Amino acid sequence: RELRRTHTHDMETKNYSSDSGFILLGLSSSPQLQKPLFAIFLIMYLVTVMGNLLIILVIHSDSRLHTPMYFFLSNLSFTDICFTTVIVPKMLANLLSETKAISFVGCLCLTQMYFFVTCAITDSFLLAAMAIDRYMAICNPLHYTMTMSPQRCLLLVMASWVLSHLHSLTHTILMARLTFCGPNVIHHFFCDIQPLLTLSCSDTSVNELLAFTEGSFVIMSPFILIIVSYVFITRAVLRVPSGRGRYKVFSTCGSHLTVVALFYGTAISVYIRPSSTYSVTKDSVVTVIYTVVIPMLNPFIYSLRNKDMKRALRKLTRRKE
Ligand SMILES: *[C@@H]1O[C@H](CO)[C@@H](O)[C@H](O)[C@H]1NC(C)=O
Repeated sequence: RELRRTHTHDMETKNYSSDSGFILLGLSSSPQLQKPLFAIFLIMYLVTVMGNLLIILVIHSDSRLHTPMYFFLSNLSFTDICFTTVIVPKMLANLLSETKAISFVGCLCLTQMYFFVTCAITDSFLLAAMAIDRYMAICNPLHYTMTMSPQRCLLLVMASWVLSHLHSLTHTILMARLTFCGPNVIHHFFCDIQPLLTLSCSDTSVNELLAFTEGSFVIMSPFILIIVSYVFITRAVLRVPSGRGRYKVFSTCGSHLTVVALFYGTAISVYIRPSSTYSVTKDSVVTVIYTVVIPMLNPFIYSLRNKDMKRALRKLTRRKE
């Protein structure tokens, strides 16, 4: 660590004070790529916002979709909109601007980090809540309406938000205590914890320890909960004798499992490991996948594979005509 730090100091001899802000280098510094990247990410962002808004609209407009599963899905869409809105507009502005600055003392960078972490963790908690919901519906159908009452669902959603805010607040406060005196170029397209830590010239061992222990816990516990739920679900499904019954169960769980696999596959590969193995280019690509691509895919995964959603969508468009 020390070695790398002195090395970067040598390369960029110019000293910056922490109030001069950071430079977000973004995905590519090549000038010819800026405009195409801008167009691609603008389209992806618009598709994400509209797709997720449509999901929320469809779910709230059809009383047959007023079930815990779809309320969680609607909340997931809402979180996905926040998630991308925290990152993509600033990234788009940077693709067009020459300076690419983001202020640290003006707190834009810390604010971005705060909301990014909050939304990411809420997303994973909501995915866990959906797994619990599927488990209750499939393995415990007789008690389902009682255990997943509207109050309990609301409690789960609130708990997800509160826990993720607390988690994010801890990391942000610890980050705000650090001093940044060295190079201020972030080789990333938004202010994330790891790229910021590598730039600090104070002792970051507490931050890293917390990111590694509590961070792993917060990311892994919903994941383990999901795995356990699906082990029980699979066991229950294998007991169903007919092929059609199995198909029905799998069609409701299939979309959820797809999203879970995409989200955790990418998140775990970026976060659950020591920061010494952090690689800027490889991680940027993986990070684009789960910050920009997955929130965009969620609405498609849910509406294309799901009969209830398709029916509600048709009803909504017919009403408009
Ligand atoms: C989130 O979930 C709660 C509880 O099920 C529900 O009442 C609320 O309408 C949902 N929020 C959105 C934006 O769908």
